[in-house]
Amino acid sequence: MNVEQTQFLKLHEHQGYIDQTIDLLNSEWPKSVSYREKVLRSSTDDLPVNLILVKGDNVVGFCRLIKTQESMLGVESVVTDKNVRGQGYGRILMEGVEEMANKYYEPRIEKGKEHYLYLYTNTAQGFYEKCGFEITSAPQGFGSVVSNLNSGQLSGLAAMLQKRQQSLPHENTNKDGSIWMRKQINKV
Ligand SMILES: CC(C)(COP(=O)(O)OP(=O)(O)OC[C@H]1O[C@@H](n2cnc3c(N)ncnc32)[C@H](O)[C@@H]1OP(=O)(O)O)[C@@H](O)C(=O)NCCC(=O)NCCS
Repeated sequence: MNVEQTQFLKLHEHQGYIDQTIDLLNSEWPKSVSYREKVLRSSTDDLPVNLILVKGDNVVGFCRLIKTQESMLGVESVVTDKNVRGQGYGRILMEGVEEMANKYYEPRIEKGKEHYLYLYTNTAQGFYEKCGFEITSAPQGFGSVVSNLNSGQLSGLAAMLQKRQQSLPHENTNKDGSIWMRKQINKV
């Protein structure tokens, strides 16, 4: 593996990287620049937080750590630069977000309760399995994440995903192959 030294940063503390981050996201999921800016600027230590992986001076990865009202954590919009895929940066990105989720839970941990990081995917199950995630059913209350997000589009997406999940022919798999996955991130 040829992974040069990288930095895992909170985007709101390094706003000079916003334009590059918009380009990275739009190279995978094209959206208007104004929409991207709005979502990318809605980032705080208290979540949701936008996270970037920077190599040299280039943004090579992005993901967003979010929480539900029940304080369950999820990761979304995981992406690495097409030019560096397959070189280990995705794994570094996931390790970074898990560490951040761990830090978030640390002062809030409830003894005897299991804490997980959730995600929803139809394209990268194998990648997440390699990062230690397992398939699960839809987390209860995950739809309420929408009330914590500033973006109307993200709200619509979360509601749609939950609706789809309710009509599944099988417990864990959606019609289009989308699945929920989770990883336990803090053991007491
Ligand atoms: C999915 C993605 C983030 C992976 O990033 P990456 O930089 O290529 O990941 P890594 O190089 O760290 O790969 C880690 C391991 O996962 C494997 N892997 C990567 N993408 C995979 C995929 N889509 N399916 C199965 N395995 C995959 C790699 O082969 C590697 O395996 P190894 O450790 O045995 O060599 C990247 O391909 C991407 O941005 N895809 C487009 C956006 C997307 O689909 N995001 C997920 C949305 S839910």
